[in-house]
Formats: sequence, structure tokens, C-alpha cells
Amino acid sequence: MKFFIDTASLSQIKEANDLGVLDGVTTNPSLMAKEGITGEQNIIQHYLDICRIVDGDVSAEVISTDFKNIISEGEKLAGLHKNIVVKVPMIKEGVKAIKYFSEKGIKTNCTLVFSASQAMLAAKAGATYVSPFIGRLDDVSTDGYELIKSMRLIFNNYKFKTQILAASIRHPMHVVKCAEIGADVATCPLSTILALLKHPLTDIGLAQFLADHAKGEKK
Ligand code: G3P
Repeated sequence: MKFFIDTASLSQIKEANDLGVLDGVTTNPSLMAKEGITGEQNIIQHYLDICRIVDGDVSAEVISTDFKNIISEGEKLAGLHKNIVVKVPMIKEGVKAIKYFSEKGIKTNCTLVFSASQAMLAAKAGATYVSPFIGRLDDVSTDGYELIKSMRLIFNNYKFKTQILAASIRHPMHVVKCAEIGADVATCPLSTILALLKHPLTDIGLAQFLADHAKGEKK
């Protein structure tokens, strides 16, 4: 499974990249705003900065919601760097735009996906990635894993190449379960990526090994 980091923070992207296990980055307008990135030129520069840190796909989301403007915004974003993936919302105009981009060889990530029917449409339109938001489904007492299982089955049945990018991940077990049920990618905050490596027995065991070694050295 590929690991993406879900943030627009350059320092967090650097920290995750330094671990050596990072395959890409996802951003969204809320994450960009959280970093204080506003204005077209600053936004463009920020995507370029991210692409300089990570050698992998970087999702950059369009703000437009009508076909014509999604296309012009998406083409501008895609032209910035070969690793930019145009992130498009799951709306009617978005599906049309994904089809257009796929015919032009521009990579897309269909975002805000909450049902298998939406995922199927995105795959039919030729999306590179489709992003089910599993944490937000959990928030409304709905099982996000069931959605991913259904998507996996449908994509396998019809050999769709679209990759399942599990998003809105909140904790390490989300990542583990998504890997078990066949998501292609998990995009996580830095805190979740770092939480993957923690176990109290590792910490206790290491402290014991180091203490025993120190005792031996004193003899
Ligand atoms: O990639 C989408 C993700 O950022 C949404 O996460 O935690 O806001 O539901 P969250």
C-alpha cells in the first residue's frame, strides 16, 4: 500500500519524507488555509515547494465547480509539475471534467466520495484516484470499511485501474484495516504516520536492552 501525507505543512511533509516511506501528498482547500496559504501566486508556489520535497503524486484541489473553470484551473495546476494530480470534487461537473482530464492524460483524484455509486462513476470517467472519506463516514455512524470493500470488489470485477485512496484517516487502525481490505493508498496526517511505529512494549523492551547493556559495560 502507498502512504501519502494529508497536509499542506512543508515541515510535516519534510518530516514524513525523511522517514523514507512517503509516496505522495494530498492537500485540500481547508489544509491550505490552515497553513495560511492564500492568493493564486502563493498557492502555486506552495505546490511547487511540495513537489520539490516529495518525489511522488501531489494532489492539488480545484476551487471551481463548473466544467469550464474546473478545466482551466486544473490544466494550470497540472502544468506546474509532472507529479501534480488535479483533485476534483464528486459533482456532476466534476465527473465531466475527470473524463476530459483522463483523455488529456492529466492525473485526477476524485474527492469527497461517500458511496460506491459515486466511486463507480469516478472510475468510469477515468479517475486516477478516488478518495473515500472513511473518518467522516465514521462520524455519521456509517462503516467506511464497507465502502472500501465494495469499491475493491467493483473495481476488481471490471478491472478499473482507478486506485482507491483511503482519506479522512484518523488513527493507525484505519490504516491497518484499509491495507487488509485492499485500499491502494492511505493518506494520513503526520500524527497517524508516526503513531504507526509506536508500541509500548517496544519502548519498554528497548529501555531494558539499553539498561542491561550499560550494566554489562560497567563490569
Ligand atoms: O483527504 C481528505 C481529508 O483531509 C479529510 O480529512 O479529517 O478533515 O475528515 P478530515
